[in-house]
Amino acid sequence: MIGKGYRLAATTPLQGGPAHVAIIMDGNGRWAQSRGRPRLFGHQAGAKRVREIVNACPELGIRYLTIFAFSTENWKRTQAEVSGLMTLFRRYITKEAQALLKEGVRVRFIGDRDQLEPKLVKLMDELETLTAGNDRVHLTIALNYGGRDEVARAVKRLAHEVAAGQLDPEDVDAETLAKFLDTCVLPDPDLVIRTSGEARISNFLLWQSAYAEYEFSPILWPDFTAEEFGKIVEKFSGRERRFGAVPV
Ligand code: FPP
Repeated sequence: MIGKGYRLAATTPLQGGPAHVAIIMDGNGRWAQSRGRPRLFGHQAGAKRVREIVNACPELGIRYLTIFAFSTENWKRTQAEVSGLMTLFRRYITKEAQALLKEGVRVRFIGDRDQLEPKLVKLMDELETLTAGNDRVHLTIALNYGGRDEVARAVKRLAHEVAAGQLDPEDVDAETLAKFLDTCVLPDPDLVIRTSGEARISNFLLWQSAYAEYEFSPILWPDFTAEEFGKIVEKFSGRERRFGAVPV
């Protein structure tokens, strides 16, 4: 069972299903405001939804799940919301660590850690180490992540290698640059989902999504169930992907 009352027709992973799904979890604020509650209440509800979606992955044949938790632009929110979110991330890691370990989830974080508070970075490092032996689902949490920022940081590291004489500029191609990205050990996403009805990519996995399929769901993230997730994944499985080629 993926969620309440929902079972996929196939018990084996979907044929042609996405191996890597990335999600922009949008709509927490509106979900809370429509209930007359503070925005942070929506983020808390959103955090609860994460477990259900992670747990749905194995049955859907999804090996890699990447979720957008905090963008490099989210610092522009009020100080109260930003600090509430940072507290939520710390609590989430502390509370969920053992369950993630038991469920076979390997957790990684992408994004710039330098601007994050040290106590949060310590918990992130510990969770990565704790789950490093897991291989059932690879959960990547994008925290203080921006696609442009990631490419800029990658280029900076690459330039240092060139300056140090370790890399010949003539050898630099797309594959070389990808090795310097935060996502260097991950496959590119096959499917990117954004909830809440907004049809924007908001600086998420810009490089990696070159050939991804996009799905925009009208549902606000705290209401986004495993059942809904399963429907979108099944729809993807019926699509023909050409990667720029002509069908033969
Ligand atoms: C966007 O909704 C959501 C965020 C900026 C935060 C995402 C965070 C979570 C789902 C919670 C925790 C995640 C983890 C991994 C513990 P919004 O606030 O922009 O919604 P709005 O567009 O309705 O205002």
